[in-house]
Amino acid sequence: MCGITGYIGYRKAYPIIINGLKRLEYRGYDSAGLILYDGKDIKMAKTKGKVSNLEEKITNNITTTGNIGFGHTRWATHGIPNDINSHPHFSESENLAIIHNGIIENYDTIKKELINRGYTFKSDTDTEVLVNLIEEVKKQKGVKLGKAVQIALNEVVGAYAIVVFDKTKPNEFVVAKLGSPIAIGIGEDNTEFFVASDASPFIEYTKNAVYLEDEELAIIKVGKSIKIRKIKDDSLVDANILELKLNLEQIEKGGYDHFMLKEIYEQPKAITDTFRGRLLANKGIIRMAGIDDNIQRLLNANRIIIVGCGTSWHAGLVAEYLFEDIARIPVEVEYGSEFRYRNPIITENDVVIAISQSGETADTLAAIKMAKEKGAFVFGVCNVVGSSIARETDAGAYTHAGPEIGVASTKAFTTQITLLTLIALKLGEAKGTLSKATYHTYLQEMELIPNKVETLLTINDKIKYIASIYKDATNFLYLGRGFNFPVALEGALKLKEISYIHAEGYPAAEMKHGPIALIDENMPIVVIATKKGHYEKVVSNIQEIKSRDGKIIAVVTEGDTTVKEIADHVIEIPETEEGLTPLLTTIPLQLLSYHIAVMLNKNVDQPRNLAKSVTVE
Ligand code: M6R
Repeated sequence: MCGITGYIGYRKAYPIIINGLKRLEYRGYDSAGLILYDGKDIKMAKTKGKVSNLEEKITNNITTTGNIGFGHTRWATHGIPNDINSHPHFSESENLAIIHNGIIENYDTIKKELINRGYTFKSDTDTEVLVNLIEEVKKQKGVKLGKAVQIALNEVVGAYAIVVFDKTKPNEFVVAKLGSPIAIGIGEDNTEFFVASDASPFIEYTKNAVYLEDEELAIIKVGKSIKIRKIKDDSLVDANILELKLNLEQIEKGGYDHFMLKEIYEQPKAITDTFRGRLLANKGIIRMAGIDDNIQRLLNANRIIIVGCGTSWHAGLVAEYLFEDIARIPVEVEYGSEFRYRNPIITENDVVIAISQSGETADTLAAIKMAKEKGAFVFGVCNVVGSSIARETDAGAYTHAGPEIGVASTKAFTTQITLLTLIALKLGEAKGTLSKATYHTYLQEMELIPNKVETLLTINDKIKYIASIYKDATNFLYLGRGFNFPVALEGALKLKEISYIHAEGYPAAEMKHGPIALIDENMPIVVIATKKGHYEKVVSNIQEIKSRDGKIIAVVTEGDTTVKEIADHVIEIPETEEGLTPLLTTIPLQLLSYHIAVMLNKNVDQPRNLAKSVTVE
C-alpha cells in the first residue's frame, strides 16, 4: 500500500515524479503529494484524491523547477484521506521532509513524548511522528541525517519504506526499508538516482537497480556510489545491483481502455510464458528447477499447506483439487491472515506453498515467516521478480505473467493455476499416481490452452450483451463444483471488487442449504456446468434455480444441449481436461465483471478502498 518515488540528479525532477506516481497509483489512490527542491527552498504540494488532482493543484500553485524531489500516493491507514494527512510530511523545523509506505505501530507513545518536548503536529499520521523523531535525534545527538534515521528507526515498531530529505544537506536522500518494498535505480556513473516502490517509475532511465532488504538503510549521494548499512548493527552491506528485465511497453495500456482489459487479453501469452521452457509436451517432460531441486521434500511431505489471500487464495483452492486428484498429497488451503494468528500445527515434514502475485502481501509474508520458524519448507509462487515473498521462501517458481497493474487480478490468477498444475503433474508423474496416458494427455492439453483462451476472447461482445442485461442487479450468485468451485468464488470477487455489486460464490450443491432463499426473478446466477464436472448434479441445481424464476447464465462445454434448453444465457468454453477447465471458465467471468463495471461507470483499474499490493496486516 502506498507508492513512493523520488529523483536526485541532473534532470528536471517534476516529470519523473509525477509520471512515476501515475505508474504507482495502483498501490493506493486516497491522496497524492510531492516535494521539489529548487536549490533554495522545498516546495510542497499535496491533495486528497488522485495524482491528476495533484497535477492540477501544482499547475495552479507552484513552479516545478528543481532536480531533487519525491512524491507519494497514499492508501490511508492512520488519519482519514485529506490534504493534511497526505504525504510528504515536514518536520517541525521544515528542514526535513519524508515519504513513507507502512505503519509505525508505536507512533502514539513517541508522539506524546515529542509533544512533551514542544513538538506540534499538523496531521494525524504516524509518518509525521517519525520525521519529527528523526529531527529530535539529529538535534539531541548532533549526528548526520543517515545516523539520525538509523537511531530513530531502532526506536520504532512497525513497517516502513521511507525516503528522507534534509534541506540543509541537499545532495542526498536517506532511504530505509522494513517490510515494505523499495527499489533504488542507479544512473550512469552515479550521476543520478531514483527511488520507488517498484521499478516502473524509472525503467526508461536506467536498468540498474538495488532492492533494499529488510532492516537496511541506504545513503544516496549524487556522484558517489550507494552506501548500504544494516539498521540494527551498522554493518556495511554490499550493494547487489541487478539488471532489470522490465520494459516500458509492459506497463502501458497499449490501446486498451483499461489495464484490466489489457491484462485479460494478455492471458494467452501470459499462460504461454508461464509454461515456456518448462513444459515439453512432446518429450513428456516438465522441467522446473525449483521443484527438481527439492522433489524429495515435496514427495515426502506429510501434507502441503497452501497460503495466500484474495485471488491467490482462490488459485490455492484450485491447486488443492489438482494436488489431491493428480498427486494424491493431502492439501490444506489457508488465508495468510488466519493461518498466521491461529497457532497452527506445523512440522518439519510439511511443505508450505505461498501464492502471491505481488510477492508483498503482508499477511502471506507473515504466514511464511512463521512456517519457516517452525521448520517447514516454504515454496513461493510469485509474479513479481525479486519481491519480498520470492526472497523469503526456500525455493520457488515465478509465474512470468508480466506486470499486472489493474487492481483486480486476472492474468495473475490463470498463470498461478498454470504453474500449480505443472507442479501437480510433475509430482503425480514422479509418484506414479496418475497413468502415463493421463499425464501425456494433460501435457498436450495444457499446450493447447492459450489458443483456447484466445478463442474464448472472441465472444467478448456476447458477454458484453449479457452484462448490459444484468448490470443493474443488486445481487449475483456464482455456483460451481469441484475444480470450478474456486472459479465461482473468483467470479464473485471480481464482480464485487470492481462493480460494487454484492456477489457470493458457492459450491453448487450448497445452494439448497441456504442461498436458494435469495433466488427470485431478479437474481442472476452464474453457474459453471462443464461436461465432466459432476455435470448431472449441476444440471439438477440449474433446474432448481429455474423453478424459482432465477436468471441463469451458464458456462458450459462446447456443444452442450441440455443446459441450453434451461438457461437464459449460455457461454460455451472449448473442451479440455476437467482439471484444466478453470483456465477457461474464468475468462468469461472476468469479462462479465469488467463490462458491468464499465457500464456502471466505475473505476475499473482502481476500485474504491482497494490497493494492488496489500502491505499491511
Ligand atoms: O499480490 P497478492 O496475490 O498476494 O494479492 C492478494 C490479494 O490482495 C489480491 O489477490 C486481491 O484479492 C485482488 N485485488 C483480487 O482481484
